[in-house]
Amino acid sequence: MKLNVNGQVREFEAEEDTPLLWVLREQLGLTGTKYGCGIAQCGACTVHIDGEATRSCVRPVSTVTAAQKIVTIEGLSPDGSHPVQKAWAALDVPQCGFCQSGMIMAATALLKEKPKPTDADIDMAMTNICRCGTYNRVRKAIHVVARGGDPKTAGLAIEPRAAGSKA
Ligand code: FES
Ligand code: FES
Repeated sequence: MKLNVNGQVREFEAEEDTPLLWVLREQLGLTGTKYGCGIAQCGACTVHIDGEATRSCVRPVSTVTAAQKIVTIEGLSPDGSHPVQKAWAALDVPQCGFCQSGMIMAATALLKEKPKPTDADIDMAMTNICRCGTYNRVRKAIHVVARGGDPKTAGLAIEPRAAGSKA
């Protein structure tokens, strides 16, 4: 079988009903995409197929054609400099990090479709589950990107912990 992953044609062997997630992780070595629930609930396995956020744990690999473009977290930017990744870092969004590649892939798909999402848009698109509870910072980071990418100018910077108070 062949798939176009992160701009490269990749060949591999798999059963037709093998979930795309396992091909990405085990055959292609792209382990940034995570396995959480395996039943399309948590979003840890989210990748893009032709720009659309897709839960790869329930997507049989045979239903994706070689003409479709798959992007995983590894393909989002060569050096982690995608605006969403930069906002995630600036706002310290990840806690344990396990869910975050799925979160970032869902957020990038949302921002491509709606560059200025409302809170309601975010709530509707970001159904990913985070056991660390990073939801508030995920939402803030998405707004930061929507407002141009700089947490300070976006007015959403998290206050520095060591900020002293001088009278
Ligand atoms: S692992 Fe795919 S949605 Fe949870
Ligand atoms: S950061 Fe730990 S599960 Fe989301």
